[in-house]
Amino acid sequence: MSRRTKDEDFDTRIDILRTRLKDSDDKNVQDAVFDRRTLMDLYSLASKGVIDSLGGSVCTGKEANIFRAMAGEKELALKIYRISTSNFNSMQDYLQGDIVSAWTRKEFRNLSRAEEVGIPVPHPIAMKENILVMDLIVMEGQVAPTLKDMNLEQEEARAVYEQIVHYISLLYNRAQLVHADLSEFNILYRQEGPVIIDMGQSVTLDHPQARRFLERDIANVSHYFRKKYSLGSPEEIWKKLIKDRDEIKEKKAD
Ligand SMILES: Nc1ncnc2c1ncn2[C@@H]1O[C@H](COP(=O)(O)OP(=O)(O)O)[C@@H](O)[C@H]1O
Ligand SMILES: [Mg+2]
Repeated sequence: MSRRTKDEDFDTRIDILRTRLKDSDDKNVQDAVFDRRTLMDLYSLASKGVIDSLGGSVCTGKEANIFRAMAGEKELALKIYRISTSNFNSMQDYLQGDIVSAWTRKEFRNLSRAEEVGIPVPHPIAMKENILVMDLIVMEGQVAPTLKDMNLEQEEARAVYEQIVHYISLLYNRAQLVHADLSEFNILYRQEGPVIIDMGQSVTLDHPQARRFLERDIANVSHYFRKKYSLGSPEEIWKKLIKDRDEIKEKKAD
């Protein structure tokens, strides 16, 4: 294919995608300058029917942008890991693309693993290079708030704390994973209970830093609940983790 035809082909595809972006008058979407590769991947997801349309921006994080999207009547979240475009060295850019896509794959796998052991996480649906497609977590028709933005009644705070401790234990004892960035920023709140998100950096227990990450996760969670709701302690969380571990061992021994 000649250079010109390739470009024409690209433009046609992007036009098709644009017309499919129902909310394309949304300022957030217009402001989002997708690089060429990300546009191609969005096009690919659209042509496979994984997404029908792209919605507004939910959040611009440190390493990723979160957008809303639709598939039929279903509301989705797209996490688009950014590939830095500050470096125009094509080889570097190429390698970075590879690293980011491995990261996306890792988050997909970690979410699946957490889900398998019964932890509420956004259900991962598909991935393509640096784009992760998952369920959008909603509360009362809105994107769910983070735990940080909630002011819970004491009784409910206790229940949420206990659920989170249970999830740390399930993740560790059943999924053999450590979240590694667990805090009130990466827990969403719904009336049905908390939802754990953002698992790109999660590690398996054989990772050399797993123990240190687990200590930090436990410290973050207990510090937050202690300060805001005067409850919980790291010792209490460790006790629960070890109790659950021993119960699993006993069951296996039977
Ligand atoms: N599936 C989702 N449903 C609703 N909101 C989400 C979802 N995933 C992420 N968010 C929102 O986007 C923010 C950033 O996402 P996150 O996965 O934590 O990325 P980062 O690595 O940038 O922190 C979250 O704090 C949350 O508010
Ligand atoms: Mg986060």
